[in-house]
Amino acid sequence: MIPVTPIEADRPSELATDISERLTSAIREHLMSAFAPDNTKSLRAFSAPEAAELLGVSAQFLRKAHAEETLPEPADIRGGRRYYSVTELREARHILEATSRKKGRYLPGRRDGDKLQVWQLMNFKGGSSKSTTTIHLAHYLTLRGYKVLVMDLDPQGSLTSMCGISPEIEFDGLTMYDAIRYEDPVPLADVIQETYFPGLSLAPSRLMLSEFETESAVHSAPDQPFFTRIRSALEQVEADYDIVLMDSPPQLGFLTISGMAAATSLIVPLTPSMLDVSSTAQFMELVGAYMGVIEDAGAKLHYDNFRFLITRDEPTDVPSQQLTSFMRALFQDRVMSSTALKSTAISDATMLKQSIYEVVRSDMTRATYDRAKQSMDAVGLEIETMVQKAWGRS
Ligand SMILES: Nc1ncnc2c1ncn2[C@@H]1O[C@H](COP(=O)(O)OP(=O)(O)O)[C@@H](O)[C@H]1O
Ligand SMILES: [Mg+2]
Repeated sequence: MIPVTPIEADRPSELATDISERLTSAIREHLMSAFAPDNTKSLRAFSAPEAAELLGVSAQFLRKAHAEETLPEPADIRGGRRYYSVTELREARHILEATSRKKGRYLPGRRDGDKLQVWQLMNFKGGSSKSTTTIHLAHYLTLRGYKVLVMDLDPQGSLTSMCGISPEIEFDGLTMYDAIRYEDPVPLADVIQETYFPGLSLAPSRLMLSEFETESAVHSAPDQPFFTRIRSALEQVEADYDIVLMDSPPQLGFLTISGMAAATSLIVPLTPSMLDVSSTAQFMELVGAYMGVIEDAGAKLHYDNFRFLITRDEPTDVPSQQLTSFMRALFQDRVMSSTALKSTAISDATMLKQSIYEVVRSDMTRATYDRAKQSMDAVGLEIETMVQKAWGRS
């Protein structure tokens, strides 16, 4: 336990600093124990039925492939059961793709001429599930065989910590700020880190990123306006990924707008509550105004998709269902047909900085886990279908 002494300070600035220091050290202790012993996250192995589902084959096909030695056995076999690491699953994709009659069946990513998919999740409402949705999409798409980069544009760094790096503690390396700052920016590739989730890379964030807001407000160089910063940085690594997912801060500042100028699709996660739906009107008004401003300044905006995603959906809650129907009636297919269910399986997982894909089904109430996973899978699949469509496939 942390010794608790009363907080007394003469000045508000001291009080805030004191609160910050106490919280930082308490978080450090809490996280250290949560991520013991070596303080790093690691990813579980996937059972044979899960592996078959992820690869889109039958369990029988998988067994046969091992028997015929087209696929190497996984290293982890317990009690006659096979468990696959994500790295082994990725290798299996390469082997299966080489002999597959249908191109892209096991490696569905970009081909020559396909443009990089840059999806931004944005809404100025905090708690609308931007970060939760981003990490679930990232894990879903990575497990489906795409090369994914997540970019944390929120100085609060929730996505960064979901990726196993705690901005509050051990992390003082390069961040997105260093790649987009006006003075001596570093190559984005130097900022990007591989995560414990094979195939998923992260451009991390921490509080320092908020400097970009301050600097952009005073910066005036017409040759490099603020809204080109993220797009230019992404151009450097464009060949390395299939899909980039950008998580946004809960405000419509320079970071979010610079993200919008780099994005090829926009998703607005929206919780179906009266307050959130009402504030969406103001949010969209601002979005429209800012888009106009940067277009006038020379930004070329084009989105393959610009959609709402209903998050924390509660099928048994009548008012929220009415709001969802209202949004659908008003905007039809601009509202994604799948929704992210509100689920204790999701909130419990995120407490542990995990996605539903990282939790083991038997560790949870199965029906709860199944409903949450089905819902996240459906959202992932709908996005994946839009991605494939943008590449001219369906
Ligand atoms: N589908 C869900 N079911 C239950 N809780 C959720 C769900 N999505 C998000 N949450 C919870 O809501 C909170 C806010 O979500 P978050 O993704 O951080 O929002 P944002 O990034 O938009 O501020 C988190 O504590 C998260 O655990
Ligand atoms: Mg967030």
